[in-house]
Amino acid sequence: MDELRGLILSGGKGTRLRPITHTSAKQLVPVANKPVLFYGIEAMAQAGIRQVGIIIAPETGEEIKQVAGDGSRFGVEITYILQDEPLGLAHAVLTAEPFLGDAPFVMYLGDNLLQGGIQDLVTAFRTNEPDALILLTPVPDPENYGVAELDGDNRVTRLVEKPRDPPTDLALVGVYMFTRGIHDAARAIRPSRRGELEITDAIQHLVDHGRRVEPHIVRGWWKDTGRLDDMLEANRLILDAIEPRIEGELVDSTVDGRVVIEPGATLTRATVRGPAVIGAGARLTDCYVGPYTAIDANCEVRNAEVEHSILLAGSSVCDLDGRMESSLLGRNARVRRDTSQPRAHRFMIGDNSEIGIP
Ligand code: G1P
Repeated sequence: MDELRGLILSGGKGTRLRPITHTSAKQLVPVANKPVLFYGIEAMAQAGIRQVGIIIAPETGEEIKQVAGDGSRFGVEITYILQDEPLGLAHAVLTAEPFLGDAPFVMYLGDNLLQGGIQDLVTAFRTNEPDALILLTPVPDPENYGVAELDGDNRVTRLVEKPRDPPTDLALVGVYMFTRGIHDAARAIRPSRRGELEITDAIQHLVDHGRRVEPHIVRGWWKDTGRLDDMLEANRLILDAIEPRIEGELVDSTVDGRVVIEPGATLTRATVRGPAVIGAGARLTDCYVGPYTAIDANCEVRNAEVEHSILLAGSSVCDLDGRMESSLLGRNARVRRDTSQPRAHRFMIGDNSEIGIP
C-alpha cells in the first residue's frame, strides 16, 4: 500500500460551544490543557503518518495555523487546506484532493478524541486492504450521529446521517480510513437535507457499488467534543490517565492524587485534589481545586473552590462563597464576588453565554 497520508478536519463553526467559539476555533479548546486538535495530530504521528493536511475555515484558519505551526514539534509535516464554505465532510475530502492525490488516507475530525490512538486501525487497514475502514461505537443517542447497519456477517449494509429513527445504536466515530475511490464517491452524491455533502452518503455510495467497507467497533472510549458536557467528559477521561508531575512552587499547600503542576505555577495555602492539571504561571491562593479540573496557563484562583471545570488561559475565579463546578471559562474570563452596593448580580457576558445561579 502507498504511504498513508493524514487529513484532519478543523473547520466548522462550533455553534454548540458558543460563546467560547465566537473568538476561537472549537478544535483549540483545551482538554487537560492541550488543544483537542493536538490529540489528533499526535495520534497520526504515533501511527507513523508524516504528511498531514489540515482543513481550515476562513474564520478560524489563521489561529489554527499559528497554534499548530508547520507540524515539526509533532514530528509531522502539516499542509493547510482552505475550505471556503462548510459544505460537508465529503466536500472537505474533495477540497483536499490535490493534497491527497491517489494516496490512501486517514481522516480525523479535529474535535474528536479517541483513546488509544489509531495505530491498530492503521495496521488493520494496511493488512486487510479494504476500500474503506470505518469506526463504530454504540451510543445512547444515535440520532445525533451517522448510524450504521451491519448484516449477520458483520458487513456494512447501510449508513444514515442523523436519522430520526435510528436503525441501530452504532454511531460513526469521526475517524475514517479511505482509499482513492472515496473521491469519486464524494463527487457522485448530492447534498443532504442540511445542505452538506455527507461523508456518510459517500461511504454508502461505496457500499452500493460493491466496494469493501470494513467496520471496526471501538473498544476504548471516544468523544466528540462538540458540547460543554462532552468537553467536561473528555477532560475527565484524559485527566484520569495523566502522569503526576509537580514542577511549580508549593507554599503551605497540599496536593493529593494525580496532579500535574507546570513550572512557574505558584500554590499558596492551596489544596489540589486530583486528577487535575495546573498550567504554567497559574496562581492558586487560599483555595481548593477539586477532581477533574484543568486550569490553564496564567489563571488565578483565590479564595474560592473550583471543581470539575475547565479554565482557559488567563481566566480567574476569586472570592466566591460557594463552589464553582462543571464550568468552562473562556480566555481571560473573570468570576468574582462583588461587594459593592447595592447588592446585586452584575454580569458582563458575551453572546450565547450561560450562567447558573443557585
Ligand atoms: C459528523 C458526521 C457523523 C459522525 C460525527 C462524529 O457529524 O457527519 O456521521 O457520527 O461527525 O463526531 P457532525 O459533527 O458534522 O454533526
